[in-house]
Amino acid sequence: MGSKINRHLFFLSLIIALVFGFALIRSADGQYLVGVGSYDMTGPAAGINMMGYANLFQNTAGIHFRLRARTFIVAESSNGTRFAFVNLDAGMASQLVTIKVLEKLKTRFGNLYTEENIAISGIHTHAGPGGYLQYLIYSITSLGFVQQSFDAIVIAIVQSIVQAHNNLNPGSIFIRKGDVENAGINRSPSAYLLNPAEERARYPENVDKEMTLLKFVDAASGKSIGAFNWYATHGTSMSRDNLLISGDNKGAAARFFEDWFSSKNESSSTTTSKFSTSSDIGKLMEKSKTIKATGGQQCGKTTSQGFKVRKNDGSLFVGAFCQSNVGDVTPNVLGAFCIDSGKPCDFNHSSCHGDDQLCIGRGPGYPDEILSTEIIGERQFQKAVDLFNSATDQLSGKIDYRHVYINFTNIEVGLDGTGNNTIKTCPAALGPGFAAGTTDGPGVFGFQQGDTEINKLWKQLRDVLKKPSQYQEECQKPKAVLLSSGEMFEPYAWAPAVLPIQILRLGKLIILSVPGEFTTMAGRRLREAVKDTLINNGNGEFDNDTHIVIAGLTNAYSQYIATFEEYAHQRYEAASTLYGPHTLPAYIQEFKKLAQAMAKGEKTTKGPSPPDLSSVQLSLSLNPTGDSPPAGKKFGDIKEDINQPKDGSFNKGDRPSATFWSANPRYDLLTEGTYAVVEKLQGKRWIPVYDDDDFSLYFKWSLENTSFHGLATVEWEVPTEAIPGVYRLRHFGSSKKTVNSTNHYFTGASSAFTVS
Ligand SMILES: *[C@@H]1O[C@H](CO)[C@@H](O)[C@H](O)[C@H]1NC(C)=O
Ligand SMILES: *[C@@H]1O[C@H](CO)[C@@H](O)[C@H](O)[C@H]1NC(C)=O
Ligand SMILES: *[C@@H]1O[C@H](CO)[C@@H](O)[C@H](O)[C@H]1NC(C)=O
Ligand SMILES: *[C@@H]1O[C@H](CO)[C@@H](O)[C@H](O)[C@H]1NC(C)=O
Ligand SMILES: *[C@@H]1O[C@H](CO)[C@@H](O)[C@H](O)[C@H]1NC(C)=O
Ligand SMILES: *[C@@H]1O[C@H](CO)[C@@H](O)[C@H](O)[C@H]1NC(C)=O
Ligand SMILES: *[C@@H]1O[C@H](CO)[C@@H](O)[C@H](O)[C@H]1NC(C)=O
Ligand SMILES: *[C@@H]1O[C@H](CO)[C@@H](O)[C@H](O)[C@H]1NC(C)=O
Repeated sequence: MGSKINRHLFFLSLIIALVFGFALIRSADGQYLVGVGSYDMTGPAAGINMMGYANLFQNTAGIHFRLRARTFIVAESSNGTRFAFVNLDAGMASQLVTIKVLEKLKTRFGNLYTEENIAISGIHTHAGPGGYLQYLIYSITSLGFVQQSFDAIVIAIVQSIVQAHNNLNPGSIFIRKGDVENAGINRSPSAYLLNPAEERARYPENVDKEMTLLKFVDAASGKSIGAFNWYATHGTSMSRDNLLISGDNKGAAARFFEDWFSSKNESSSTTTSKFSTSSDIGKLMEKSKTIKATGGQQCGKTTSQGFKVRKNDGSLFVGAFCQSNVGDVTPNVLGAFCIDSGKPCDFNHSSCHGDDQLCIGRGPGYPDEILSTEIIGERQFQKAVDLFNSATDQLSGKIDYRHVYINFTNIEVGLDGTGNNTIKTCPAALGPGFAAGTTDGPGVFGFQQGDTEINKLWKQLRDVLKKPSQYQEECQKPKAVLLSSGEMFEPYAWAPAVLPIQILRLGKLIILSVPGEFTTMAGRRLREAVKDTLINNGNGEFDNDTHIVIAGLTNAYSQYIATFEEYAHQRYEAASTLYGPHTLPAYIQEFKKLAQAMAKGEKTTKGPSPPDLSSVQLSLSLNPTGDSPPAGKKFGDIKEDINQPKDGSFNKGDRPSATFWSANPRYDLLTEGTYAVVEKLQGKRWIPVYDDDDFSLYFKWSLENTSFHGLATVEWEVPTEAIPGVYRLRHFGSSKKTVNSTNHYFTGASSAFTVS
């Protein structure tokens, strides 16, 4: 009897030991607390100027795929040192967005998340709604501030941080590096060549090809919960003529990566086609003929969310593709050619017989920009998968951060380190090369990259706005001052003066948050200077294995940072280097101070706070009002139904589409919902299988030519992996009678069609 109890006890304790022992081993694996989060930040999809190309005519007219804010938080312990890194599917970070996010976080979390330990980093898509930056020059083409763009971004950042915070659990982090092939080339090689030959000889290429990836693994379950990587290439696969909201190549890569991850773990649910024989297809076609368009129907605010394919319940795997020293790196890897002659453009000026507007870079899918976006996204995605699958180098060690605000308009820089030979940065200014634009998106006629002079007419026009001070003109040389934005304060500041810089540390990984676009060589110099400083001051805490990445376009935005040598050439990147020829040495000097403080465990000063200009923003873009369908129609009714193919069914690559009478999408952004759905008939039920977050589905917005009634077109490019069956297209929308009335939600579906 006793021995039986003993035996029971023995087995019981064995089981307990195994279970707990296992758990202990598992949680000991978790070096940190790790959490990830993600939230929809898709802004107004109609009539709002896109941020990036400064093209007055590039106004949103639909969605290719949605924009998201993706966050990871790492902490040493439940109330220990932490930081949050937010990857934003936006052109760039915005000082005002950062200020408002911090206010909201303070209300919610007290002093847990502050400017010091939050980094908000833009991916640099040029296909997102603009009007969310506070300095005037960044909101001219959006006709000023756009509250709806701004709110969508602020809310998404906060929500993604809250989600990551709530998900904090013991976890491990693995790091892996590797080169991405053929996803970026230098778009200003003539400027790069001005850097010293000995320096250039140290690098195999004129762009950085390295991607650095972090993989986050939950300790308790052993499951991967997310991956973030940094790699430099511009978000300009989509052109300045595109009107669909898109995350460009990095947004696409993130969509592909997250979908790849979830499909890997859905093996049980992968349906093999039950309808392979031609008689089955025949039956399907008969069936689909009987299902007609539904007509417009009322629905609720959250109905569209219910039709979302990837529902955000806070447990989704988060994959993010972050930006780095992107200044001179274009994804248009076939090179730049003259659109008239087809010949390569002038090497030094990227123009064609003197005309900057004829020289255009070509992506790998040329002339199809969607294909280019897909290919460049795919190349980053594939490399990320490789790195993710082979990441075994586990991070350990301290989490730390340093942050400072600096007034960049008059930094004294000691060039030789003796203090003898000091120079100064200047108030912000743009040169004529800025107006010329780039091979990714040419600017104004009459300018060329590399111009160091301005003609008389433009000077006169400039002087009407603001004649640059003598000091400014001297200080910015050899840049000719086309726009002295740093000296323009009417009706409010045109350019930033105070900017944040930040260092985040996660074990041996160092992330440098920069508020702009460093060129390739500028980024290398900064990384090297910080690394040397850490090693020289760190008492063994840092070594050659310390890995530094630059997080570009982070926390605020101040355009470009070219090297001193590149500055002499005054191509676009140099002409947009705001604070004069010594902008880069100033950054390096200030970053070294932060690095030294971090290495020595010292505090840093806070610096001057940037202004909050929210109360003085001008806003000329109008909110929509009073949309109505034509007489006898309801919102959601079909205008143009599926154009059924002659042989009765659609094939892979076909583009069935349907157009609905609709109201302006700005009435409700349908956040974490969708304007467009592809439904598949399963038995008697319609199941949503693609939504407006899918690369294969397009939501297009327009006004009917003569009547100004709104039209929503849902267009689906049948992807290769589509399962044969009966499908239909659905649209969701919303309208308001007056500014203050409540939203009315509606939906409608097309007639059915067959895919074989
Ligand atoms: C959390 O903070 C409290 C004091 O605020 C401290 O006593 C406690 O040890 C901390 N816990 C951890 C896990 O760091
Ligand atoms: C899929 O899920 C399993 C267990 O649920 C997990 O072990 C695995 O890591 C996941 N897939 C990937 C790619 O991590
Ligand atoms: C570009 O400019 C450099 C420096 O002025 C000059 O040496 C070179 O010949 C130019 N190259 C071409 C192809 O015009
Ligand atoms: C930055 O410094 C300049 C020069 O000292 C000064 O005039 C300006 O007011 C400062 N700007 C801000 C926003 O503090
Ligand atoms: C500072 O400049 C003076 C005059 O140019 C020069 O004589 C002196 O050697 C310099 N001092 C240092 C420390 O470089
Ligand atoms: C430092 O690391 C780099 C690679 O990160 C390597 O190329 C270099 O040889 C290393 N230098 C030393 C001194 O170990
Ligand atoms: C407007 O009219 C033009 C030509 O008349 C036509 O090509 C275009 O498709 C029409 N647009 C819409 C939205 O109906
Ligand atoms: C809508 O509501 C706001 C705030 O309550 C009010 O100021 C405004 O006059 C209202 N507008 C209309 C058209 O009723």
